Amino acid sequence: MTYAAFRSIGAYVPSKILTNNELSTMVDTTDEWITKRTGIKERHIAGKDEHTSDLGVEAAKKAIQRSGIDASEIDMLMCATITPDYFCMPSTATTISNKLGLGNVTAFDISAACTGFVYLLSIAKAFIESGAKKNILIIGAEKLSALMDYTDRGTCILFGDGAGAAIIGATDKKEEAIIDVHTGANGEYADLLMTPNGGTGSAHDAIDKEAANCFIQMKGNETFKVAVRTLTKDVIEILEENNIQSSSIKHFIPHQANLRIIKAVGDALKLKKEQVVLSVAKYGNTSSASIPMAMNDVFEQGNLKKGELMLLDAFGGGLTWGSALVPFSPLK
Ligand code: UT7
Repeated sequence: MTYAAFRSIGAYVPSKILTNNELSTMVDTTDEWITKRTGIKERHIAGKDEHTSDLGVEAAKKAIQRSGIDASEIDMLMCATITPDYFCMPSTATTISNKLGLGNVTAFDISAACTGFVYLLSIAKAFIESGAKKNILIIGAEKLSALMDYTDRGTCILFGDGAGAAIIGATDKKEEAIIDVHTGANGEYADLLMTPNGGTGSAHDAIDKEAANCFIQMKGNETFKVAVRTLTKDVIEILEENNIQSSSIKHFIPHQANLRIIKAVGDALKLKKEQVVLSVAKYGNTSSASIPMAMNDVFEQGNLKKGELMLLDAFGGGLTWGSALVPFSPLK
C-alpha cells in the first residue's frame, strides 16, 4: 500500500507591513477595535509588481529545500488561490512551475477560498495513494490586498498577503501517512462572502475593476456564526471517526481568520493553550495561505518535530470547509 506523507513546509510574506494604526488613518477604525474583535495587529502587503505567483515561488523554494528531494523529482504542482495572477489563464500553478523551472509537470489551480490548503491535501493524498504521482508540491498563495476595498472597514482590516507551500510524498510506512482529510461545501451560503462582480456571472464589465467593484464583500457577523458552528462540528467528527482524542493533538492549526473564532473552537475541543497555533496577530487573514504560514512559524521556531500530530481546520467563501489529521513526516 502506498501512503501520502507530509514531508516539508515553507512560507513567505512580503516585507511591507500595514499596522492597525496605519489603517485607522485610512478608515473609521481603531487599533483597539481591531485587536479586541479579531486579534489582528498587522498584516503584510505585496508590492505593485509582486504577484501571487512570486509569493508562491518563494514559499515553494523553502518547502523544496527542506524536503530532502530534488526539484526534478516533483511530478505535480497545485496552487490554491482566490487571487490568481490572471483572470482565467494561465493558472498561477503553471506560472509558479515555470518560474521554478520544473519543466513538464502537471500543474493546475483550485478555488476553495480559505479552505484551499485542506482541499489540496485531500487531492494530493488521493493522487499519491492511487499511484499516479509520487511527489506533489502544494501551495496556498494570496495577494488579497488586490481585492480589498480600502474604504470598507468591515473587510480591509482583516486580510493580508502571503504564501505557504508543502511537499507531499509517497511512502510505504503507515506511521508516516496523512491519516484523514475531510472536505465539504454548501453553495447556499455563497452570498455571505464573495466577490460579486468581475466574472462571467456578473452584469458588469470585467475589465474595469473600479467600475465593476470586484472587491471582496462579507457579511461578517453571519459568517462568524456559521464559521464557529461548522469548524467545531468538523473537527469533532474527524477526531471521532479516527478514534483520536483531542489530547493527542500536538498542534491544532486552524485557519487564521479571527482569534475569537479560534478560541471558541479550541474551547469546544477542550484544547490547552499550548496546543493551539496562532499567527493571526502577525498576518491577518491570508485565506488559502493561512494554515501553511502558521505551520511554517511553528517549524521555524523549532517546535514541529517528526511524528507530531497536527489537526488542521479551515473555513471560507463558498462556503467551504475542511479538516485534516496529519503527522509531520520529514525525510531528514
Ligand atoms: O476567512 C473566511 C471566513 N471569515 C471569517 O470567518 C470572518 C468572520 N467574521 C468576523 O471575523 C467578524 O464578524 C468581524 C471581525 C468581521 C466583525 O466583528 P463583529 O463582532 O461580528 O462585528 P459586527 O460586524 O457585528 O459589527 C459590530 C459594530 C458595527 O457597528 P454598529 O452597527 O454596532 O454601530 C460595525 O459597523 O462594529 C462596527 N465595525 C467596526 N468598528 C470599528 C465594523 N467594522 C469595524 C471596524 N472598526 N473595522
